[in-house]
Amino acid sequence: MKDLIDIQELSTGEINDLIETAKDIIQQPENYATRCSGKKLATLFYEPSTRTRLSFEAAMYELGGHVLGFSEANSSSAAKGESVSDTAKTVACFADIIAMRHPKEGAPFVASRAVPIPVINAGDGGHHHPTQTLTDLLTIAREKGRLDNLVIGCCGDLKFGRTVHSLIAAMSRYPGVRFVLISPEELKIPEPVREEILHKQNIPYSELSSLESAIPELDILYMTRVQRERFFNEADYVRLKDSYILSPDKLRPAKSDLTILHPLPRVNEISTAIDSDPRAAYFRQVANGKFIRMALILKLLEV
Ligand code: NCD
Repeated sequence: MKDLIDIQELSTGEINDLIETAKDIIQQPENYATRCSGKKLATLFYEPSTRTRLSFEAAMYELGGHVLGFSEANSSSAAKGESVSDTAKTVACFADIIAMRHPKEGAPFVASRAVPIPVINAGDGGHHHPTQTLTDLLTIAREKGRLDNLVIGCCGDLKFGRTVHSLIAAMSRYPGVRFVLISPEELKIPEPVREEILHKQNIPYSELSSLESAIPELDILYMTRVQRERFFNEADYVRLKDSYILSPDKLRPAKSDLTILHPLPRVNEISTAIDSDPRAAYFRQVANGKFIRMALILKLLEV
């Protein structure tokens, strides 16, 4: 495997190996401190990011490697009209591996075809976000001790939220997983996710618009932000942005061992009063992102 563009390119065995490597890194970071010495990671971010870009960069530093790149399209030659392929070919002269985020679906795939070095999709439009999903899986494995037999609620913008698309694709392969998809009518999961993943594999799921009625049966609650930047008009965003706000009140009927996840950034979908609840795992999730990206860089660089 040269690149990671879509989570489906990884077998279940490979995902489990990455999770095991990440757990080993957490236990014994000193064993990994020089594995990537002399190697360079380029982060090409054409869209805003805090966690994804910085966790990639921290991951490479902790492996003893170096980092270069840009964090906005306007500071790169994209602003002059350069194609993604030409930028990637240029960067491949300087770096050993690329992590790319782009507003256009498929851009990291195009880059991966243009260069001989590994390209990691760090989020492409409303499409996929495989390294967030690896982060989510490591978090579920650590919080729950298993990836199977879980009722997973995904709540919010299931239409444009790329993290949910990749999460459903990945978790659908584990036995006994059931999804509860909670969204307003306008933000339901896209047809390809429903057809190609849920229906094709006979995965049990339900769709509803009420978070309150879903909460009692959930093992995992995956909250998401309404993806303002992907809306065609501001009025629709304004109408839908406050569809769900998780408050301590709403959490009252939840299981005592519920795990609350969010890829972040949060706007107002989770009240800050929930942050101190032991079930709130979203900042532990952020920390896990660095370790799983370390494991992925090691795998793709074959070191
Ligand atoms: C997500 C993304 O970029 O898709 N953030 C992230 O990478 N952690 C979620 C989001 O922006 O809402």
